[in-house]
Amino acid sequence: MPTNKLTSRIAIVGVGDVGAAAVFALILSSVCGQILLVDTKEAFRDGQVLDLSDATHRGNSSTHVRAGTYQEAGQCDIVVITAGAKQKPGESRLQLIGRNIGILGSVISGMKPFKQDTILLLVANPVDVLTTFAQEISGLPKAQVIGSGTFLDSIRLRGHLAEKAEVAASSIDAYVLGEHGDSQFVAWSIATIGGVPIDKALPAGTFDRRELAESVKSTAQKIIEAKGATSYGIGSVVASICSSILFDKHNVRPISHWQQDHDCCLSLPVVLGRKGVVRNLPLPLDDEETKLLHESAKDLREVIDGARK
Ligand code: LAC
Repeated sequence: MPTNKLTSRIAIVGVGDVGAAAVFALILSSVCGQILLVDTKEAFRDGQVLDLSDATHRGNSSTHVRAGTYQEAGQCDIVVITAGAKQKPGESRLQLIGRNIGILGSVISGMKPFKQDTILLLVANPVDVLTTFAQEISGLPKAQVIGSGTFLDSIRLRGHLAEKAEVAASSIDAYVLGEHGDSQFVAWSIATIGGVPIDKALPAGTFDRRELAESVKSTAQKIIEAKGATSYGIGSVVASICSSILFDKHNVRPISHWQQDHDCCLSLPVVLGRKGVVRNLPLPLDDEETKLLHESAKDLREVIDGARK
């Protein structure tokens, strides 16, 4: 008899490339007891259940994968929403808004009423806008409705810096903040390598900051042009966020969440635990970064206001 049987349940709504990659990452890191796959395309969903179940039987995974309904999803500990149209080559994330707000509305109403402590994790794009709307439509406390945000962009940034500094990515603290999209920016003033400010650890002249930030921002488009969609990076980010929540780890992560000061959801680092956003961290951004944060929030608010009309 297993002594530490995992009892928590995660629902993945939308089991295309992103949803399946998230499930695969969740299985490999044994984050929960059950994963429910929810999708309107039932035959496709059942194929994913069979394929992903094979991955659980391979080793000693304690995760069980099965098909689920929207109603069942609303009773899970975490609901990951990947359902929605995806970007075409050359299309920005914000251009998906009309199509994906409609899908979000029907998905959320199919899941209501939610279990009281359910965490909704938005992954579909434009993630900040959809997170803002999901907070309103779901009626759940704002701290329980979050988006994957710039966690993935921050990981991409860390990857580049790790190569340049020849240091393990895990020893680098560096954030991409604001919108998960075109108005995002790198918070260079608080970036550190092994606790050493980046200016000292990787002196100016070693690399071009603007070029690096652009490269991080354009990564998704490069992948979409080459293979149609991004999946593994975001899948691993979903597994990491779910693990922080279910094990109440209190990791600091740049994820999309409600920002009262900016009147919308966007990414800044928060402490992440079983209740979702446990608290914010005050960030000593410099003047230029503070300006970029305000501009990013303004762009997002304009799209949100436009979508309400
Ligand atoms: C990306 C998708 C998740 O950046 O927007 O890969």
